[in-house]
Amino acid sequence: MTKRKKVTVTQLKKMLQTGEKIAALTAYDASFSRVIDQQGMDIILVGDSLGMVIQGHNTTVPVSMDDIIYHAKAVANKNESALLMVDLPFMSYTSPEIALRNAARLMQEGNAEMVKLEGGAPQVETVRQLSHHGVPVCAHLGLTPQSVYKLGGYHVQGRGQQAAQQMLIDACDLQEAGADAVILECIPPALAREITTVLEIPTIGIGASVDCDGQILVLHDLIGLTENAPKFSANFMNDAKSIAEAVKNYIEAVKSSQFPQEEHCFL
Ligand code: KIV
Repeated sequence: MTKRKKVTVTQLKKMLQTGEKIAALTAYDASFSRVIDQQGMDIILVGDSLGMVIQGHNTTVPVSMDDIIYHAKAVANKNESALLMVDLPFMSYTSPEIALRNAARLMQEGNAEMVKLEGGAPQVETVRQLSHHGVPVCAHLGLTPQSVYKLGGYHVQGRGQQAAQQMLIDACDLQEAGADAVILECIPPALAREITTVLEIPTIGIGASVDCDGQILVLHDLIGLTENAPKFSANFMNDAKSIAEAVKNYIEAVKSSQFPQEEHCFL
C-alpha cells in the first residue's frame, strides 16, 4: 500500500481552493488513531471531549494539560498522515504567555501539529501571538463547551442578528490574527454559510450545516457508543460491518456533501 501524503496546513489551503471537503474526527488512543488515519482522515483531533467520552465527566472542564498530552502522545504514535490537532484545555490559555507555554507543551510533548482554542474576541491577541511564534491554530466558535457553565448548557449559539453579527466579526478578527481554520459548533446553517463565504480559511462544522468547508465529529458518537448522542451526530456503525468501514463511510459522506443532512442542523 502506498503511503498517503502527510496532511499539512498548506494541504488544507489547497483543499479549500479546489473545493475538496475536509474530513475530521476525534481520537484519543493509538488503536483508533491507526484505523482512522488508514481510512484517509484529513484531521485527527485529540479533543478535550476526552473528559466526557474517556473519563466519564459531564463536561470538558476537568481535563488537564497532562491528560491531553498523555492522549495526544498515544494518538501521535500511530498516526502517519492525518494532521494532528490537539485541544488547549480549559484555563490553559488565559493569557498569550500562558497559551504560548502550553501550546509548546502540546507540540513538543504531545506532537501536536495544530492547537485548538475556544472563543472569539478575547482570544484574538492569543491567536496572534501563537501564530507569530509558528504555532498553527484552529479557533472554535459557536457552542464552546469549555464555557458550558457560563452559557447555561449546551445550546445553539449565534441566533438573532446581534449574536450572528458578533460571531462573524470574531471569525474575521481571528483570521486576521493568523488562525488557520475555525470550527463552528451548533450554529444556524445560514450563519455558518455566511462565515464560510466571508472567510479565506477553512470552516469545519459540527452541527453547523453542510455548507462548511469540512466536518468534524466525536469518535464515540460516530461509532454509536454515546448515550443520548447529540442531534448533530450520526451513528455510522448502523450501515457498517467494522469500525474501519464506518470511518471510511463518514469520510465519503463528508467529501460528497452527504453529511450532515438537514436533520443534523439547527434551523
Ligand atoms: O473536544 C472536541 O471533541 C471538540 C469537537 C467537538 C470539535 O472540540
